Amino acid sequence: MPLLDVAGLTVDLDTPRGTARAVRGLSFALERGETLGLVGESGCGKSLTALALLGLLPDNARAGGSVRLDGRELLGQTERDWCRVRGNRIAMVFQEPMTALNPVHTVGRQVAEPLQLHRGLGARQARREAIALLERVGIPDAARRADAWPHQFSGGQRQRITIAMALACGPDLLVADEPTTALDVTVQQQILALVRELVAERGMALLLISHDLGVVAQNVQRLLVMYGGAVVEDGPVATVYAHRAHPYTLGLFGARPGLGGPRGGRLATIPGSVPDLHELPPGCPFAGRCAWTVDACAVATPPPVDLGAGHHARCIRLDAVAADRARGGTP
Ligand SMILES: Nc1ncnc2c1ncn2[C@@H]1O[C@H](COP(=O)(O)OP(=O)(O)O)[C@@H](O)[C@H]1O
Ligand code: SF4
Ligand SMILES: [Mg+2]
Repeated sequence: MPLLDVAGLTVDLDTPRGTARAVRGLSFALERGETLGLVGESGCGKSLTALALLGLLPDNARAGGSVRLDGRELLGQTERDWCRVRGNRIAMVFQEPMTALNPVHTVGRQVAEPLQLHRGLGARQARREAIALLERVGIPDAARRADAWPHQFSGGQRQRITIAMALACGPDLLVADEPTTALDVTVQQQILALVRELVAERGMALLLISHDLGVVAQNVQRLLVMYGGAVVEDGPVATVYAHRAHPYTLGLFGARPGLGGPRGGRLATIPGSVPDLHELPPGCPFAGRCAWTVDACAVATPPPVDLGAGHHARCIRLDAVAADRARGGTP
């Protein structure tokens, strides 16, 4: 049984213009120790997906479908049950560390708190462990710095502290949503290296979310490419890289030639922009922006096509796309 089994996950949003479906039937499984990346342009529904996994959706959002952790359904459970899952089983690291940190408490107290709350440690033992965790995530002079406040740390150090908080209760799954987007490039690499080390060291599963294909591809085993609230291509990173099939994925990789480079993936070279949630076409979400679009694309959501080796793409014109690609271009 997979650690996490997401099946047909939907997120509907109530807006002044009516209800809009921001996540349109997402399915994936994650085994213990496995690392999975979720990549796609801003606005494609990545954060809503992450929040749905933690029961943290905003008030105007509703999740549907199924999210199972060790076989147990999480959607629809009480807030009390969610509290037992969050931190304990699934922990989250956000883009902006200050959203997770309380500015009026010392960082030592904030790392110690979940240890007392969830693991029932006494105050002194929790503090000792908090200091050890701060040391592990690379806070220098942690025993002394535990008594400092969040504003006394740099952005990168603050993100290290939220990672320490996320690790406190030994979660099985770490969800990191754009964990380095707010940081400069050097610090970004250091934080990602730390996450990679910790995930391997503790045997956690990782769901790493980013708009930046490079960030995701360099740090996970398997990739989900998301567009317009749906996964359009998925598979092992190396396979997707070598045999990228979906026009959107081609655009993503095209916007970021050479995955070994420093940073990029701004996706500026995919013409057009993410469609408005209220105006998503009924069929393929990429229709209208895709150079291969034909009338049939807008009729029904393309089913996943099995490309072997765990690689799938949702497009009805994969043969035409591959043929044109072999000739070196677009149609
Ligand atoms: N609370 C909300 N109310 C209305 N629309 C929202 C809300 N949260 C997100 N959205 C919209 O839902 C879409 C997906 O958002 P999000 O999951 O944050 O995207 P991503 O993380 O991929 O950038 C976007 O169009 C965003 O504007
Ligand atoms: S289904 Fe049609 S619109 Fe969608 S990616 Fe394939 S060719 Fe393009
Ligand atoms: Mg987001």
